[in-house]
Amino acid sequence: MKLLFEDIDEPGLNTLPIYERRGGYQALREALALAPDEVLGQISESSIRGRGGAGFRMGQKAGFLPHGDMDKYLVCNADESEPGTFKDRELMQKSPHMLIEGIVIAAYATEIRRAFIYIRGEYEHQADILEAAIAEARDAGYLGEDILGSGHSLTLVLHRGAGAYICGEETGLLDSLEGKRGNPRLKPPFPAIEGLYHGPTLINNVETLATVPHIIRMGGEAYAKLGTETSTGTKLVSVSGDVQRPGNYEIELGVSSRELIYGLAGGPPSGRSVKFWFPGGSSAPVLTADDLDLPYDFDSMAKAGSMLGSGAIIVVDDSHTVLEVALKVAKFYAHESCGKCVPCREGTNWTLKMLERIQSGEATPMDLDIMASVCEQIIGNCLCVLGDAMAMPIGSMIEKFREELEAEIEAARERADAAALEDVVPLGVADERAGPMPVH
Ligand SMILES: Cc1cc2nc3c(=O)[nH]c(=O)nc-3n(C[C@H](O)[C@H](O)[C@H](O)COP(=O)(O)O)c2cc1C
Repeated sequence: MKLLFEDIDEPGLNTLPIYERRGGYQALREALALAPDEVLGQISESSIRGRGGAGFRMGQKAGFLPHGDMDKYLVCNADESEPGTFKDRELMQKSPHMLIEGIVIAAYATEIRRAFIYIRGEYEHQADILEAAIAEARDAGYLGEDILGSGHSLTLVLHRGAGAYICGEETGLLDSLEGKRGNPRLKPPFPAIEGLYHGPTLINNVETLATVPHIIRMGGEAYAKLGTETSTGTKLVSVSGDVQRPGNYEIELGVSSRELIYGLAGGPPSGRSVKFWFPGGSSAPVLTADDLDLPYDFDSMAKAGSMLGSGAIIVVDDSHTVLEVALKVAKFYAHESCGKCVPCREGTNWTLKMLERIQSGEATPMDLDIMASVCEQIIGNCLCVLGDAMAMPIGSMIEKFREELEAEIEAARERADAAALEDVVPLGVADERAGPMPVH
């Protein structure tokens, strides 16, 4: 069952005439024929959970916004900076009008008249495509004043970020959009009550909003029948790492993870096997080959001690060491920590340093305990979950691959000792190397 990707490879789908020919903007017409509350009702009935990471129900979040005429905002999170995640890029590049249509419908449902798309700085090509599509939609009367004669108006502005991971976190994003340094805010208040320019703000991920036209077209109830009871609908999954066919796949939530990794993405190269995998971007605690038969949905991933996150599966095969991957993960989060709160700023940096000590042969197995305790102290103690996003995968690697890490510590120490011995120069040789005694 494909919804978002049904026509994704249709040539020219990024242009308005082709999008309209495939039924584009019909859902908007249907939505505008209903009252805003009824449209919100359809979204709530679909039970769609946010596709950006946290998996919060969109209908519930939109329902928190106060009713009535006031400065309210809709912000589309197109920052897509979670390592391993590249689904929003394909959506925006190939079907920008699907996102715009979703934004207009969601804004109508919540009586919002100002919307923004915050796109990561590196997505220049996708931003250019979106700019062109926004202009087309405005010229055709799908944006701007009195949309299709409904009385509803919406301005939509595309804002380009500057490539910071923290600006994907919703309140960091809002600060950045307001022209400040992108730092997370203390919550509550949550953006639905006090967000952009202190106004109530609905923030949703690209994929979440792009699904809205499909919900309206098929009806919330029918959409809720797709997937599982608590993880409804279809989901775009970015599969990368050690697989033969990396790419984006649209699946019904609840399919087996093995089917996704082996069936769709072709599994690891021949002769290799899955050692571990991140089910929801690099922030997710790792799962092992024993978990491959789990259904791929929000609750099954959570029950297994991990999370579905942004829906990005990164596969690591048995040609890699755990240390190698842990170092990459820690380096990324230490670099991206905004530094505003201590547990994240210090914790990510110290974890990286301790992993580097393993590599250079300076660590002892006790360092694994210290690292695990640092991770525990980060989790739940930061302003936002960037710190947790490092602590959770690293903690899970220590827990699940402790023996391998201990062996690595031992092997690295032996290598370092051997190298140190080579540097010790016997006395006579030292005299020869020093040359003749200087005569003063
Ligand atoms: C450090 C950090 C980075 C994030 N990056 C993104 C991102 O790039 N894109 C995204 O949609 N959500 C990201 N999120 C999640 C957002 O804070 C927020 O939950 C999401 O935009 C809500 O949309 P949704 O309900 O449609 O998922 C990030 C969260 C954190 C803590």
